[in-house]
Amino acid sequence: MRWIDGLEAAAAEKLPEPVHRYYRQGSAGGISVGEAVEAWNSYRFRPHILTDVSQVELGTTVLGTPVDVPVLVAPSTLQRQADPAGETAMAAGVAAANSVLGVSSNAGTPFAEIGATGVPWWLQIYVVRNRDITLRMLDAAVEAGARAVVLTADTPVVGRKEDDGPTVWDVIQPSHLLANIDEADYTDDDFAKADDLGPDVIGWLAERTGLPVVVKGVLRGDDAKRCADAGAAGVIVSNHGGRQLDGSIPTAWALPEVAESLAGTGTEVYVDGGIRRGEHVLAALALGARAVFVGRPALWALTVGGAAGVTRLLGDLGDELDHALRLIGCPRVDQLSPDLLRSYR
Ligand code: FNR
Repeated sequence: MRWIDGLEAAAAEKLPEPVHRYYRQGSAGGISVGEAVEAWNSYRFRPHILTDVSQVELGTTVLGTPVDVPVLVAPSTLQRQADPAGETAMAAGVAAANSVLGVSSNAGTPFAEIGATGVPWWLQIYVVRNRDITLRMLDAAVEAGARAVVLTADTPVVGRKEDDGPTVWDVIQPSHLLANIDEADYTDDDFAKADDLGPDVIGWLAERTGLPVVVKGVLRGDDAKRCADAGAAGVIVSNHGGRQLDGSIPTAWALPEVAESLAGTGTEVYVDGGIRRGEHVLAALALGARAVFVGRPALWALTVGGAAGVTRLLGDLGDELDHALRLIGCPRVDQLSPDLLRSYR
C-alpha cells in the first residue's frame, strides 16, 4: 500500500473525532465528495510508444511562479487542529517542495508568519457582507507578500453539513479560526458570506490588491469565460471538495469544458477535488489544467508528519507523475494534450 493511502486512517488515530469528521465530510448527502476520486478513475489513457522519455520535465510556472511539480496545496481552515504550528508548518512543508500554498482567509495563523516562511502563497478570500473585513484581510495579505488572490465564488451560503454529535465548532479554540481579524470588532452578520456578488468583484479585488485574481469554484465553460472577461488571471475548477452544492458535477468531468472555453485566452486553469495519484494529475494536465491542488491529503499529511509529511506528499505525487509521464510517452508536462486520454463513462 502507498504511504498516501494510509494517511487518512493514521490521521484519524491522532485527531479528535469531530475534527476528523470535519476534514473528511462533504455537504448534505455526500454524493460529490463520494464520487470525486472515482471520476478521475473513469479516464483511460492512450499512451504513445517509442518516444524518448529519458529526460522528464515536471516543472512549470503558475502565474509566473516556478514550481518543481504542478501539484499545489488548496486553502483549508483549521490547520492548527492538524499540527500545533498549523499553517506555518504547512507553509514550511510546501516551501521545501518548491510548490505554492493556498491560505484560507479563515486561517488560524497571522499571514505575516506564513509569509515569513518564504513560501510562495496565494490568499483565498471569502467576500463577506461587511467589506471592511474583506479589505482588512486583503491589506494584511498584500503586506505579508501574497502573490495572488483566490476568490472562492461557490459559497454565497455555506454548504449544509449533516452532523451527528458534537461538531468541530464545539471543540476548537476560537483563536484557531480567523487569526487575521479581530472578531470582537464585528457581529456575526458582518461575517456572513456576501450573496450578491457579480463578476465585477474580480476587478475590485485586482484593483484593491494589485494582484492577479483566480476564481475558485468554476464548474462551467460559460462561467469561466465570464470570469476571464472580467479580468481573472486564472480559474480553479472546483466543487469545494464536495462541501458546497451536493451533487455538483465532479471536477474531473467539468475540467474539459472549462479548459476548452478558455483555450487561447491566457487565463490559467487549475483543478482540485479527489486528486490522489500521479495518474490523476496526469489526466488533469492532459485535459488542460496547468496545475492541480490537493486539499484533504495535505491535511492528513500535516497531521501525520507535520511539515515533513506535507513535503513527502508533494514529492510522492511528483514521483508518480514522473513515472506516469514516462509510461504515457510524453516527457514534458507542457506537451500533454487531450488526445492522450478518453473517457468511457
Ligand atoms: C476546504 N476547502 C476550502 N476552500 C476554500 O476556498 N476556503 C476554505 O477555507 C476551505 N476550507 C476547507 C476546509 C477543509 C477541511 C476542506 C477539506 C476543504 C476546499 C479546498 O480548498 C478544496 O477545494 C478541496 O479540499 C479539494 O478537494 P480534495 O483535494 O480535498 O478532495
